[in-house]
Amino acid sequence: MTVEALPSPVRSAFPTGFVWGAATAAYQIEGAAAEDGRTPSIWDTFSRTAGKVRNGDTGDIAADHYHRYREDVRLMADLGLTSYRFSLSWPRIQPGGRGPANPAGLDFYDRLVDELLGRGIAPVVTLYHWDLPQELEDAGGWTVRDTAHRFAEYAALAADRLGDRVATWTTLNEPWCSAFLGYGNGYHAPGRTDHAAALAAHHHLLLAHGLGTAVLRDRLPAGTQVSLTLNLAAVRPLSTAPGDLDAARRIDGLANRIFLDPVFRGRYPEDVLADTAHLTDWSFVREGDLAEISRPVDSLGINYYTPTVVAAAEPADLAGPREDGHAAELSPWPADEGIRFLPAEGNRTAMNWPVDADGLYELLIRLRDELPGLPLLVTENGAAYEDYSDPSGAVRDPERIAYLHAHLDAVRRAVAEGAPVRGYFLWSLLDNFEWAYGYSKRFGIVHVDFASQRRTPKESARWYAEVIRTGDLPP
Ligand code: NOJ
Repeated sequence: MTVEALPSPVRSAFPTGFVWGAATAAYQIEGAAAEDGRTPSIWDTFSRTAGKVRNGDTGDIAADHYHRYREDVRLMADLGLTSYRFSLSWPRIQPGGRGPANPAGLDFYDRLVDELLGRGIAPVVTLYHWDLPQELEDAGGWTVRDTAHRFAEYAALAADRLGDRVATWTTLNEPWCSAFLGYGNGYHAPGRTDHAAALAAHHHLLLAHGLGTAVLRDRLPAGTQVSLTLNLAAVRPLSTAPGDLDAARRIDGLANRIFLDPVFRGRYPEDVLADTAHLTDWSFVREGDLAEISRPVDSLGINYYTPTVVAAAEPADLAGPREDGHAAELSPWPADEGIRFLPAEGNRTAMNWPVDADGLYELLIRLRDELPGLPLLVTENGAAYEDYSDPSGAVRDPERIAYLHAHLDAVRRAVAEGAPVRGYFLWSLLDNFEWAYGYSKRFGIVHVDFASQRRTPKESARWYAEVIRTGDLPP
């Protein structure tokens, strides 16, 4: 036998047991908005408010996953996913956000979890992916403390029903968006534009995370993993000029340390308190809150799409329009705060977000260093492109494949350098309701024709299936 003919040893670029997943969220895919006792959430209201969501799109039907979950789980199994990250709809489980559980709402997730387990796919549940029951918003939403207590009550209802089969729980998805896009610049539901309210919402979301974590620990079997998902920003100053460096410090404070410090060190950063002192006196923080917020978690979820480049604003910028794209959306602040957001270099996705995988690598290495030993999960990463089904019925998306390849390579590099990344969840399994962009942006690796609800795996789905099968990236 020649050397060439010897079977090559099985080599995996990613660690054994690496979790290969895809992610979705309830309001973005389920539809069935008024079925089986579900009541409206802030996104039902917001999407019905003229001018808030592109084309007036709503999540009323979305990808109709509520009725098609079996077919969708079959697609996941065909991909070889080992895990699936999805969120529970609070107004489906606890209509109105108070009182007893709605059994029909819980039944849906019960069926979904069983279907996943039956196909060997581990469910990863997010309790809150932005669909606050409208009644709670009417009572003040996240700006009031009571909402955090209501969240803990809801967490208990979900844990009691699903806790025997769901081994990984996430309290909140991207609370930065809930607080600062929801209450600060109004791009997201509930669409309020009050910067002091956004900071109060931020604190109450973190309190909800802490109270929810306590409830989950109390009710779930030992060994159940509890986590939090943050959209940490890979912040870069435009230059080393002192003004740009200071802009980067401030945004690192408002996007990253405002979460990491309270959750992992039990305190808010002094510079963030000082930078926001003209907006609020932070009197919503009560004694004991930070101890609650800093209860230990088992892992941290990171959602990453594109980096954030900042610079000191020139006087002329303060009057002019902001740069287009994701970077501008990062700003929860009025234009006169003196910070300018710029796009990074690189090709743009259909969201106009520059493709820059190094940002993901940088974040993972930073977390390796700042939170030694804490397991990390990439809970979202992916890209929207102008996908269409060609005359043969195929959906070819080479740009998405290139995006995924570059970002998985960034994960692989970080892992090789000791970042404890345990898994990767691609955003998203299906084309879905992309919040303020409605159905105009397609993030799925499975194409959805929203008129017929027909699902077609894109080329990227086949590519990802192969990565999962081999545990490696193609050359
Ligand atoms: C983050 C959010 O969690 C998800 O809901 C959204 O669709 C993606 N980013 C893409 O914008």
